[in-house]
Amino acid sequence: MAAAGSGARAGHENWSSRSAFILAAVGSAVGLGNMWRFPAEAGENGGGAFVLFYIFCVLLIGLPVLLSEVLIGRHGQANAPESVRRVARDSKASEGWSVLASMGVFAAFLILSFYCVVGGWVIYYIGVFASDLFQTGLTGGAFEGRAAEDIEGLLPSLFGNGGLMVGLNLGFLAVTMFFVSRGVSSGIEWVAVYLMPLFFLLFLGITIYGAFTGNFNEAVAYLFTFDFSKLTGEVMLAAVGQAFFSLSLGVAGMMTYGAYANRETNLGETSGIIASADTGVALLAGLAIFPIVFAAGLSASIGPGLMFQSLPIAFQAMPFGSLIGLAFFIMVFFAALTSSVSLLEAPTAWVFEKFKLARPVATIIVGTGAAVLGALSGWFWGAPVPGVASLALFEGQDLFNVLDGVTAKLFMPIGAILTCIFVGWIADARLIDKENGLDGVLHQTWRALVRYVCPIVLAVILVVGLTG
Ligand code: TRP
Repeated sequence: MAAAGSGARAGHENWSSRSAFILAAVGSAVGLGNMWRFPAEAGENGGGAFVLFYIFCVLLIGLPVLLSEVLIGRHGQANAPESVRRVARDSKASEGWSVLASMGVFAAFLILSFYCVVGGWVIYYIGVFASDLFQTGLTGGAFEGRAAEDIEGLLPSLFGNGGLMVGLNLGFLAVTMFFVSRGVSSGIEWVAVYLMPLFFLLFLGITIYGAFTGNFNEAVAYLFTFDFSKLTGEVMLAAVGQAFFSLSLGVAGMMTYGAYANRETNLGETSGIIASADTGVALLAGLAIFPIVFAAGLSASIGPGLMFQSLPIAFQAMPFGSLIGLAFFIMVFFAALTSSVSLLEAPTAWVFEKFKLARPVATIIVGTGAAVLGALSGWFWGAPVPGVASLALFEGQDLFNVLDGVTAKLFMPIGAILTCIFVGWIADARLIDKENGLDGVLHQTWRALVRYVCPIVLAVILVVGLTG
């Protein structure tokens, strides 16, 4: 393979095995998006119709884009913008296409900053349940004798405590920085290889617990009864956005991980495994959380508070409530950490390769930036951003929501559209064919999706998202 540039590959690391790559990529995909956002979105958007359309989005749009991203990274064997540049150069196309990945790297940095804020909440709830377990003992329900409003109020009272919010956020970010600074094999791969299996173990246990002690039938009916009258434009938009966020797409994260894959890895197959695992976890997360929430007679549609407010209330009435609550938030912490590591890695890889810095130095530079931005969104929680909040798109929103909105509504769809055009139309078809590991009908289907379906659907979503 004469493709990738020579000198700049020196010092470039690789995953130690294909399964390490899969675990790291699944670790990136599975995170707060699955455990926190997916059930909340499904609940807010009426359950079954959202879920079905979500699966449809993963297959038709998410999976083809995922393959396009890892493929660019693997061919380039470098940070995301440099990988795009190398694919462009080997295709005799303009190297200016690298801007799609530069935007992505920047967006990953923005996502990292607010992702770690939520990571901080997870640490807070680990603390809450740990101290509760200490007080009530192993078998008791959580928060014995406390009113539901009290438990629900834990989150708003955290929001009201700027110092604590910032501290927890920085704590979560510091752990993320620690692992990224150690590099691909002894840091990023290490968290994935140890924490992901632990995550799956805890996750399976809690799902079984939820199925036996909670209202499983109602949850199944809720998530899998497809009422098509509920499938509005808004629901569809929410589903695509969620699919992208959950698969870590549109912001160069999967390009960065693809760059550490070796030549023997079949990328088509690997992408299939990553997407299935991520979607499986999202669906199972719904099947773990909703039975517990329904058993307590609580509503499905409260939104972001579902995991942080309804679930803790529901644990109150459950046997082993504080223990399961603690296990639950530790599990979410593991999932969130393997994702934040990938969000930090994308900009860090760019900084240290571009400016020829040592990896730990680059980690500190990027991490410090994310710390400042994250601290601002924690500190100014609920305060509309001056200037920006007067725009229609961000009406009255605080920094946290502006960052969330900008990345989800602008960066992710634009990044993905450009990626599809680049891979489908600009890059040399022979180069792409050699990388993708698909043949026959699958290959043709993928190509048609990347060339036509994905960019068109994504463009519609972008326009509707910005105007609607
Ligand atoms: N996919 C992760 C989740 O579901 C979040 C995430 C990690 C992400 N890396 C990303 C989202 C890159 C967008 C882009 O929690």
